[in-house]
Amino acid sequence: MDNHRDTAPNPLTEPELPATELPATGLPVADLAGAEAVVRILPIAELHLHIEGTLQPELIFELAERNGITLPYSGLDELRGLYEFSDLQSFLDLYYANMAVLRTEQDFADMTRAYLARAQEAGVRHAEIMMDPQAHLARGVSLKTCVNGVASALATSVEDFGISTLLIAAFLRDLPEESALEVLDALLAMNAPIAAIGLDSAEVGNPPAKFERLFARAREAGLRLTAHAGEEGPASYIIDSLDILGVERIDHGIRCMDDPELVERLVDDRIPLTVCPLSNVRLRTVDTLADHPLPAMLAAGLNVSVNSDDPAYFGGYVDDNFAQLTAVFELSEFDRARLAANSIHSSFASEDRKAELLDELNGG
Ligand code: ADE
Ligand code: ZN
Repeated sequence: MDNHRDTAPNPLTEPELPATELPATGLPVADLAGAEAVVRILPIAELHLHIEGTLQPELIFELAERNGITLPYSGLDELRGLYEFSDLQSFLDLYYANMAVLRTEQDFADMTRAYLARAQEAGVRHAEIMMDPQAHLARGVSLKTCVNGVASALATSVEDFGISTLLIAAFLRDLPEESALEVLDALLAMNAPIAAIGLDSAEVGNPPAKFERLFARAREAGLRLTAHAGEEGPASYIIDSLDILGVERIDHGIRCMDDPELVERLVDDRIPLTVCPLSNVRLRTVDTLADHPLPAMLAAGLNVSVNSDDPAYFGGYVDDNFAQLTAVFELSEFDRARLAANSIHSSFASEDRKAELLDELNGG
């Protein structure tokens, strides 16, 4: 192959190229608190976001009061003091417990609007939002309440926040597949506005093969497919998510770095990996941000994007993830533009919407 080129590489169209500096794009500059670097806010797609993980402590108390629920915490300080996690399960315990305050459509709508307002500031122009319907059903909250509540906020998101959205029904892998099948059928029967399904919750011990029928059924129904894999679980869960579940995208996927052959396959097939650096630090899948494999993943040519996962719990939204990564790894503007372009290319948005977003990223 002839590698000679007369022009500078373009991260929007050539994400596999090695990092070099890009000229300023003319996009707005935000001086982000807590980061050493001044980081340009780029237009991005957020692809890995659990709406229940955006429930901020203040909103938890507000909704508890509105719904007459007594929380087992004396106040905000006590609740905030619990945001120290030793692993995924220790986080999930608090995450599911705090959902108790979500009772009405209005509660789900308010939570969703609060995320969209903050995401707009973070540069998010398209968001693919996961929700956990089984976690709400288990508390006696109907599908109609949780789906319609979130969907009502999404319906006006373009108008209100300039953010296009898609809804992803995520299924809890620590529950039996039968439960997931029943809920998927109910979502389809009510014509719920979902574009995709995902697979989340406790990964280790709940391998992808457990959900083969669920993903086959979702595919038949015309839904897009994604799954958490290789967050705490082994690289083989990524392989099985691709081969057995047929997913198009992998949520997290950082453990692929343990398997060079898998990395080669993911690079060749341009499989998107929705990486969540601050989440990985808070859940101790990496020791510190400086130990995060994101730079190595970029250097390997993997199709990675940066996402916030559960921003209310992990110390930051997607702009905070970008700012801290930039401060720790001195990411170049080229790297950040490449991450932004990857997020757009990897989304389930229409080709027209992707073209619009890429144009905006390109300063158009
Ligand atoms: N549910 C919410 N956040 C999650 C995460 N990081 N991993 C698995 N399940 C989740
Ligand atoms: Zn997640």
